Amino acid sequence: MSKAKDSEKQKQVAGKVEALLKKMSLEEKVGQLNQVGGAEFAPGPKAEDQIRKGGAGSVLWLNDTKKFNELQKIAMEESPSGIPLLFALDVIHGYRTIFPVPLAMAASWDPNVPEKTQTIAAKEARAAGLHWTFGPMLDICRDPRWGRIVEGAGEDPYLGSAMAVAQVRGFQGDDLSDAERVLACAKHFAGYGYSDGGRDYDPVYLSESQLRNIVLPPFKAATDAGVATFMSAYMDLNDVPATGNRWLLRQVLREEWGFEGFLVSDAFAVGNMVVQHHAKDGREAALRGLNAGMNMDMSSYTYTENAAKLVKEGALTEAEIDELVRPILTIKFKMGLFEKPYVDETLLEKVIALPEHRTASRWAAQRSMVLLRNEGGLLPLSKDIKKVAVIGPVADSMQATEGSWMVFGHTPAAVTVLEGVRAKLPNAEVTYASGPEIRRDIPSWFESLMAGQERKPEQTPAESEAAFQSALEVAKAADQIIMVLGETDIMAGEAASRASLDLPGRQEELLKAVSALGKPVVLVLLNGRPLSINWAAENIPAILEAWEPGTEGGNAVADILFGDANPGGKLPVTFPRKGSHAPLYYARNMTHSPESSPLYNPRYWDGLPVPLYPFGFGLSYTTFEFSNLKVSAEKIKVGASLTVSVDVTNTGKVAGDEVAQLYIHQQYGTDTRPIRELKGFERITLQPGEKKTVTFTLGANELTYWSSNAGKWIQDPASFDLWAGSDSQASLHAEFEVTA
Ligand code: BGC
Repeated sequence: MSKAKDSEKQKQVAGKVEALLKKMSLEEKVGQLNQVGGAEFAPGPKAEDQIRKGGAGSVLWLNDTKKFNELQKIAMEESPSGIPLLFALDVIHGYRTIFPVPLAMAASWDPNVPEKTQTIAAKEARAAGLHWTFGPMLDICRDPRWGRIVEGAGEDPYLGSAMAVAQVRGFQGDDLSDAERVLACAKHFAGYGYSDGGRDYDPVYLSESQLRNIVLPPFKAATDAGVATFMSAYMDLNDVPATGNRWLLRQVLREEWGFEGFLVSDAFAVGNMVVQHHAKDGREAALRGLNAGMNMDMSSYTYTENAAKLVKEGALTEAEIDELVRPILTIKFKMGLFEKPYVDETLLEKVIALPEHRTASRWAAQRSMVLLRNEGGLLPLSKDIKKVAVIGPVADSMQATEGSWMVFGHTPAAVTVLEGVRAKLPNAEVTYASGPEIRRDIPSWFESLMAGQERKPEQTPAESEAAFQSALEVAKAADQIIMVLGETDIMAGEAASRASLDLPGRQEELLKAVSALGKPVVLVLLNGRPLSINWAAENIPAILEAWEPGTEGGNAVADILFGDANPGGKLPVTFPRKGSHAPLYYARNMTHSPESSPLYNPRYWDGLPVPLYPFGFGLSYTTFEFSNLKVSAEKIKVGASLTVSVDVTNTGKVAGDEVAQLYIHQQYGTDTRPIRELKGFERITLQPGEKKTVTFTLGANELTYWSSNAGKWIQDPASFDLWAGSDSQASLHAEFEVTA
């Protein structure tokens, strides 16, 4: 749309919003600020009754196309001003067609992956009658004990920002009136990935420099990409609940970044300001939320119960309420919901049947997988093998293959690894054993929201031993063993933090016993977080990190294991050797006794806390060489840019993908800067012998940082190192200088 047309449209929408606001009662305005829970566990009066009297702006936790139309009809025809509802749900990595979990998509290091898959997720969700998804989750996380690491893009703000923009584009497109898209929601604002000890919901303490340099960049990038909504985080950020954090919500988001959409709290988080001992009571919680600029209360009814009273007693003005309602109405008008409030109930079945959705799921899964080890070129396996054993508790689990957030009536329907291998080898004998079960010691409340997840009684020691022995028997009879180990879907995600990163249950014991048989063993990992697989990393020759790969996950694993696809993913997060080493990340500062010094003090006396696998790491079935690293200028002035180029050559025998990565280090300055920071990447495909030159730009955007010392954004005149290569330990080095 042309600029002139666009601003004309904006004016028209603004006019409609003002006209509507004039008609609405105070109670109705407060209704727009209320999000009603459509699930049984949600508190509050019946959704229908709230909607009828104009007490609801949005409904969540409902996944029922027919019901959407019924509720919408009440809103349009029976509520005082006939304002359409927004239907919202967590469509995190697919609606019916499930894609790899967000952490996996980040491992593709290819923004086309999340952009394409979220476009499809939006199309399916919209066809089901949803308008709004609670994604992308943009929480940078450097502590894999935190279960929700699976929902984000890992540890790095640069990679995280690229994935944020791609997801916003995928969900929203570039026009909110696009009837095949949904509103995106940047969450959880902000700092949730830094909870103390990785314990979900625990408090977060972050300096302004950590916030601005590490945590906030993906949110800023999403804002610049036009994200329509934001969700606040649950916890206290530096002693102030994020939901009532005026500095964060008003100063940073609205004033500095110019965000024009609306904010929703996390579930019950407005009311929880009382639970968190910040607000004296509901009245004060509402006041704090409203004052901080929190537009919509997710299901705690704190606004419904208090906001109008607050205006009547003079604690707030009606104009302040209008200011909070305005962006919600604006978005409803921009989406065209007043003209087209209903969904065609026959659409979804047609949309989900589109073959390109499954094709995209398989493609995304292939591109997300990371080859961690391949001694002696064991992989790819030959398709001529006759007897293959597929073993492990997640080898035939649809839930573990789909991953987190498969709730609210979703029926699991993934191709498991076992099925994928069987489909790939129609002439082989493919046997299977699960081995002993794995389970959470403490159940997840999410289990009650999921289909097919009824908690079974725990295996007795005798049953576990029988399962162990029968897995060994199955392994003994095969020529090739594929172990599929890791975590189930409910072991990562919300309320799924853990203290250890070991393979749960008896999986490592089984792996050792199977390996002792002396047959070739390949390990496939299905999991939503880094695991400390130290023993496997030294003893199992081939390891494929497949994450939670989605609907076509098993086929994608088989494609890679048998050479129909060449892995090219890279870790978006450091793999520590132990959970207790967390947080462990590559972009740390130099200390007075660096690892390279003769005075190096082991950071712990019981084992070096160096990563098992570094950030950015991943192998291929071919090999690559980086050479000819060049900077366009040895010196540039503050504010100017230079280009960096590097040649990448495929030195192996098959075509493959490499991710060229660029890291910088500012050698000195107003503040100490990290020893390495990612500032550019590009995933490329190379034929055997082919060479490509990759070019990056470094300028003020990449070289400016928030300085604790200066208390503002600065760019220092200083010398810089740079490295280009295939991971965060790249050694090809050059230097340049920035002068005043
Ligand atoms: C989660 C959010 C989610 C919301 C709505 C909360 O428990 O923290 O990420 O979007 O529920 O389901």
